[in-house]
Amino acid sequence: MKRILVTGGAGFVGSNLAVALKRDYGHCQVLALDNLRRRGSEWILPRLAAHGVQFMHGDIRNPSDLAEVGPVDLLLECAAEPSVHTGYGGSPAYVLESNLLGLIHCLEYVRQQGGRLLFLSTSRVYPIDPLRALPLQEEESRLVIAPQDSGVGWSADGINESFPLAGNRSLYGASKLSAELLIAEYAALYGLSATILRCGVIAGPWQMGKVDQGVFVLWLARHLYQGPLSYMGFGGRGKQVRDFLHVDDLYDLLRLQIEAPDRFPVTPLNVGGGPDNTLSLCELSRLAREVTGCSLAIGSQPQTRAADIPYYVTDHRCLTDLCGWRPQRNMVTLAEDVVRWLVDHRGQLQPLLGG
Ligand SMILES: NC(=O)c1ccc[n+]([C@@H]2O[C@H](COP(=O)([O-])OP(=O)(O)OC[C@H]3O[C@@H](n4cnc5c(N)ncnc54)[C@H](O)[C@@H]3O)[C@@H](O)[C@H]2O)c1
Repeated sequence: MKRILVTGGAGFVGSNLAVALKRDYGHCQVLALDNLRRRGSEWILPRLAAHGVQFMHGDIRNPSDLAEVGPVDLLLECAAEPSVHTGYGGSPAYVLESNLLGLIHCLEYVRQQGGRLLFLSTSRVYPIDPLRALPLQEEESRLVIAPQDSGVGWSADGINESFPLAGNRSLYGASKLSAELLIAEYAALYGLSATILRCGVIAGPWQMGKVDQGVFVLWLARHLYQGPLSYMGFGGRGKQVRDFLHVDDLYDLLRLQIEAPDRFPVTPLNVGGGPDNTLSLCELSRLAREVTGCSLAIGSQPQTRAADIPYYVTDHRCLTDLCGWRPQRNMVTLAEDVVRWLVDHRGQLQPLLGG
């Protein structure tokens, strides 16, 4: 490999992957293309420069911005509107133009110029109502699936790739599922080499956590900087559950794919922290208190938003069976890494994340 392009390269995932790639593949030119739409992305640019990643201001909605890059060996497609709540009560234009039309431009770019594609899809391709219909039991601090319960695509080990796809999933989820289908067609028609990772919640340093996206970082930041927080939806008691993946664990997987690309099919694969790395919001509050040493009164907003789900845990056994990958970093390590970053960059981050 000589050249790698990371679209959305000034975002949370893109910038972390770009910096790690440059560290480990120093002989490669690593390019980060981003339109800097996300608040805070411009603040990442000095970090990219300091690590030898070349920034290009560009927009995947414009094919000419991609053409200007020239051929690359690997395209990591991380540019997106990443909020599941986008479009509700507003225009669908940006999420569709960026996540779908932008992806088509990326596909055309790779078809014409060559190179391998790695696409970051999402667990939000799984539809909302069937996820809400899972038989969840309420325990003291969280919702759970009982060990004896299971159905097509789900069990106490989480949601796997065979979870039925019928139903609505948000514009964000629909844009990503459409993208997955198009990638598979390009693979079949044009021999495009691609991997699709259906990621659950990812977290880590350099994430600009918001209510819409990046809840792990938001929770720690608000504890440390003493900003407002509320348990939202499902009665406002904070019992909804997610698994969390450290962005460095995602990078470990990327390295496996770079080293042995032929092992990975174009079929979408679930990636996430898995059953060993789950937290409810209440439990995240407890962890945040322990790691920051700060307590916080947390409000309650019982109303559930249209795209909210009460439970999602990644069953990543398909991927583990394929290549041996599994997350290596637990929730305490993740929280400690994030808090270290929040403390080290307090002057810049408190105005952005403090509320
Ligand atoms: N963070 C997560 O928990 C998570 C989970 C599942 C999937 N993903 C996927 O991972 C990818 C990266 O997410 P993230 O968390 O880093 O989000 P992010 O918002 O931090 O980064 C996205 C970056 O893309 C840029 N961008 C947006 N539209 C663009 C466009 N049209 N052209 C060029 N750049 C554009 C933004 O400015 C931003 O810097 C996304 O595709 C997202 O759907 C993220």
